[in-house]
Amino acid sequence: NSAVALVPAAGRGERLGYGMPKALVPVRGVPLLVHAVRGLLDAGRVRHVVVAAPPDDVDAVSALVGGLPVDVVPGGADRTASVGAALRHAVAAFPDVRIVLVHDAARAFTPPEVVGRVVDAVAAGSEAVVPVLPVTDTVKRVDADGVVLDTPDRAALRVVQTPQGFAVDTLVRAHGSGVSATDDAGLVEKLGVPVATVAGHPSAMKVTTPHDLAVAEKVLVEGL
Ligand code: CTP
Ligand code: MG
Repeated sequence: NSAVALVPAAGRGERLGYGMPKALVPVRGVPLLVHAVRGLLDAGRVRHVVVAAPPDDVDAVSALVGGLPVDVVPGGADRTASVGAALRHAVAAFPDVRIVLVHDAARAFTPPEVVGRVVDAVAAGSEAVVPVLPVTDTVKRVDADGVVLDTPDRAALRVVQTPQGFAVDTLVRAHGSGVSATDDAGLVEKLGVPVATVAGHPSAMKVTTPHDLAVAEKVLVEGL
């Protein structure tokens, strides 16, 4: 139970279009954020969770996770700022922590074995670890008009999931650099630090669109 997990949950969920922050959208009556936090704690590798909530919903989110080892802080204007806020809180509240995970609230149904693989890889000495899947579609690069430029070799591409795991000092350094990225490993890459990969899982999909939400309901109910 060595790791502290940061959960960015301060997004507006515009692409889902549910009329509330995505973290609060219920699946089988339980908000996505609560599914995500329970999943992290149930994996048995995380001692505490720090959630970055929409600033107007800090009290509501605190009530949802009452009784669990979870702190809630106000998130920021983009994902990087929300993770940064949670990271500052975690470092102050848990000065002895060595391993930090960053996990999207939107990846609410991530299986515990993915959490375990990421923690194990950081504990074994990797400064940064991301769970990945092979790319099954052919991917094209296009120009501003949508005309195809080229076709990257699919065998060398991976889809990246969360939780991403870091040595705490490495993540602090990455977030001190002042740039933004769509994931935390992206910041670490800019430091020139190697980022290792472990196997992800299809159930760690990010709920972004109404289609994804329908898939998540099915995954949760049928345990696929
Ligand atoms: N996130 C965050 N703070 C922000 C923006 C995003 O903590 N200012 C979080 C989201 O809550 C989510 C994760 O980052 O758990 C991934 O972001 P995304 O899937 O884009 O969620 P939203 O930003 O909520 O969705 P959308 O972009 O459709 O509005
Ligand atoms: Mg977003």
